[in-house]
Amino acid sequence: MESLKVGIIGCGTVGSGVVKLLTGNKKVISERIGKDIEIAFVADRDVEKVKRLGIPEEKIVDDGFKALNIECDVVVELIGGTTIAKDIVSLAIEKGKHVVTANKALLADYGEELFKKAKKKGVSLKFEASVGGGIPVIKALREGLVGNRIKRIYGIINGTANYILTEMTEKGITFDEALRKAQELGYAEADPTLDVEGYDAAHKIAILSTLSFCRWVKTENVYVRGIKDITPVDIELAREFGYKVKLLAISKLVDEELEVRVHPTMIPEDHILSNVNGVFNACLIEGDFVGDTLYYGKGAGEKPTASAVVSDIVDIAIGNKYFVPECLFKEGDKPKIKAPEEF
Ligand code: HSE
Repeated sequence: MESLKVGIIGCGTVGSGVVKLLTGNKKVISERIGKDIEIAFVADRDVEKVKRLGIPEEKIVDDGFKALNIECDVVVELIGGTTIAKDIVSLAIEKGKHVVTANKALLADYGEELFKKAKKKGVSLKFEASVGGGIPVIKALREGLVGNRIKRIYGIINGTANYILTEMTEKGITFDEALRKAQELGYAEADPTLDVEGYDAAHKIAILSTLSFCRWVKTENVYVRGIKDITPVDIELAREFGYKVKLLAISKLVDEELEVRVHPTMIPEDHILSNVNGVFNACLIEGDFVGDTLYYGKGAGEKPTASAVVSDIVDIAIGNKYFVPECLFKEGDKPKIKAPEEF
């Protein structure tokens, strides 16, 4: 059977999940697509950890840059951050490899440069896992909703923040206790301030906005306020008035101007987004023909995120290249973005 060779760089929470999925469900995947997905290498400084996942020693490399010299079709970047990860992704593209990444910070800030590079080289740069964990929200935008003008996106797109707010609401525990639990469960970023200060959600809504409104939206274009100052008193007050507090990411056209923002929001208890709890994410997207659509599922953690990464690998295996919308590369009328300081 034909095979696709995949190299994984970074074997933390998500990387481990990808190894487990590709090995555990190998047969299921190859039966579905008629191709084998073969792990060519796994690169991580912690070689022993990778060995414990059952990867043979000869396929383990302790350096991501060295790993790029090993033959493979797809490089999966799962180290996170915007420094080494950017160099690895750039180099992989230059070497003509397809790239799959879960790195929302990288795409939110350097997406324009990297997607242009990938397009020029004719390789895919795929990123389903960058938004919404296991929910195929990127695929929804590029496939199911492709014929629609997108009018608005309302999302609970940070699992850690939603987990913290839910635990504070339902169990009355403190912010710090809830954050610690989210870290133990592998939901939080290496730097959890990105989750609680709203920047992780800002990266994600920047990506969704770029795909929806045909102009490059960066983190600096997003108005951001996180949840770190939310107290049990705020939550209790909201409850008394029939509301729940959620960290919402919003992107919408208002009088042809794009508003992109992330902030805690009081949502009526009977609204569908009020009942999105724990690590679950939900993204409500309105298209002009389809109306409201809702995407719901686990937004963080090893298994859901690995599920999204593997969906991109499979896309490449079956020849579904997909670049970001063509209009992003063209000059022309683009919506103006409301400056964050105007909110
Ligand atoms: N820290 C992120 C979250 C991980 O909690 O949503 C998934 O992107």
